[in-house]
Amino acid sequence: MSAARARTPAEIRRQRRTRAHTCWNHLVVAPLWPKHGVNLGTLLRTCDAVGACLAVPRWPWIPEALERGNTLRHRTCVHWVDGRPDRWLDRQRRGGSSIVGVELTDESIRLADLPVARKRTVIVLGNEGSGIPPEGLERLDVAVEIPMVGTGHSLNVAVAGSLVLYKLAGLC
Ligand SMILES: C[S@@+](CC[C@H](N)C(=O)[O-])C[C@H]1O[C@@H](n2cnc3c(N)ncnc32)[C@H](O)[C@@H]1O
Repeated sequence: MSAARARTPAEIRRQRRTRAHTCWNHLVVAPLWPKHGVNLGTLLRTCDAVGACLAVPRWPWIPEALERGNTLRHRTCVHWVDGRPDRWLDRQRRGGSSIVGVELTDESIRLADLPVARKRTVIVLGNEGSGIPPEGLERLDVAVEIPMVGTGHSLNVAVAGSLVLYKLAGLC
């Protein structure tokens, strides 16, 4: 292979969509108990990259955190979760969505074994300090774990969510 050349920003831009996706509602990543706004900004960028939506609780500090974290030129697709997150999850399930939890549980499958999403899928992420609470875990169809070999206990939540989004979108 001859020496690779990094593509220019103009070349990369020509391969991208010219507008943000209209909500086709296939993948929805849901950090339903968030603590740090910076992670929501990172997730927004991944949502744009894979054509997913972000679902967040309607808490007072979140709109500003999203505004600050959105470094994209376009608006992104945000779904506001009113009321209790567990009830929102129940409504998603009744509407036919599959509920995938990203969490280290004793029943989690490995990321490599997670198939590409074939139907609308909600990806539930845990709180940065305490993970997915029991009422969230009860509502999962499947939990997925990203294997780790280092000394750290867990990954950053936005990194974990991004890896799972890429796998479910079939882009890696
Ligand atoms: C920093 S972790 C929370 C760790 C928390 N101290 C605990 O003990 O559960 C925040 C979230 O990131 C996700 N996460 C982090 N590392 C993960 C991994 N290796 N596999 C699956 N999910 C992970 C989960 O959604 C988790 O709830």
